[in-house]
Amino acid sequence: MTTTTPAPPTLFDNRPLPYTAAVAAATADVRERLRESVPDIEWPIVAPLIARINELKRERNAIILAHNYMPPTIYHGVADLRGDSLALAQMANETAAEVIVLCGVHFMAETAAIINPEKTVLIPDLRAGCSLAEGITGADVRRLRAEHPGVPVVTYVNTSAEVKAESDICCTSANAVEVVESLGSDRVLFLPDEYLAAWVATQTTVEIIDYKGHCMVHERFTAADLDALRAARPGVLILSHPESPPEVLAASDFVGSTSAMIKQVAARRPASVALMTECSMSDNVAAEFPELEFIRPCQLCPHMGRITLPKVRVSLETMTHRVTVDEAVAARARQAVERMLAVGRGTRG
Ligand code: 13P
Ligand code: SF4
Repeated sequence: MTTTTPAPPTLFDNRPLPYTAAVAAATADVRERLRESVPDIEWPIVAPLIARINELKRERNAIILAHNYMPPTIYHGVADLRGDSLALAQMANETAAEVIVLCGVHFMAETAAIINPEKTVLIPDLRAGCSLAEGITGADVRRLRAEHPGVPVVTYVNTSAEVKAESDICCTSANAVEVVESLGSDRVLFLPDEYLAAWVATQTTVEIIDYKGHCMVHERFTAADLDALRAARPGVLILSHPESPPEVLAASDFVGSTSAMIKQVAARRPASVALMTECSMSDNVAAEFPELEFIRPCQLCPHMGRITLPKVRVSLETMTHRVTVDEAVAARARQAVERMLAVGRGTRG
């Protein structure tokens, strides 16, 4: 069971912070990165927040881990480390910081807490969930195990600690195939994302038994969207996430985790590219490759969207919201996460 400590009544001066010469100097390099995403008129509001958050990180011995879907103000402004779900778990496993602020969704913070029971793991908004994690419970996994005796259970990290605790091993989209094959079994239960399971099944001879969970963001993409993109921009490079429906993946030029998609952009430098995933990622990658044209198919994840720069500041000022996992559950979930970390990143990840 995961518990979250209710916000203590810590008061702090929440008035807008002044935009001073010192703030301008401290944020000058970030200003360049955020030129496209933050208009000049907003910078005097954003810059003091970035400066204050960076100060708070030093005061609290804190590190900010940001998922690739965070808005540019967090991703380029205050994150110490950025990446996909696997990278966030690996970084959480390696950091010496006492406090981890997880700028992503709840299962990511929970994974960091499972790995680091002695550290303080904070998430700026407790409501940042995930449709995949919410679609399956520990009881569902126990039922499936009973229906398929002896078949090992692989669960996507986009699940609760309770579900991880019922699993043999976790995976992310960056190592799902390698994790499945690491078990040496002819059949595996692969939970809960139906489309990721279908994609893995195309990459391995291991028989995959799936579950009907979906990502509410990626399930909305269609093959017709891709046809329209190709008609509008002949030669566009289309990169998709394996949480998308099979017909979308079949029509894409590349399928991989969010970090694998970024690596493809860096390696191939296409004149025109479409990242068929959450919109903020295109903003972040476009800031790094201003010479490339990013066509934004724009599907927003409402959960990721709950994490904002002002909330990151509040989180560090008040040390909320702390994510903890009951140790009996965490101990079992940790085994599944550590087995995944031992497999590492896959060849396409
Ligand atoms: P990645 O592990 O590829 O970053 O994906 C996480 C996620 O939530 C995608 O929707
Ligand atoms: Fe979950 Fe999909 Fe949002 Fe990722 S994009 S956090 S899988 S709902």
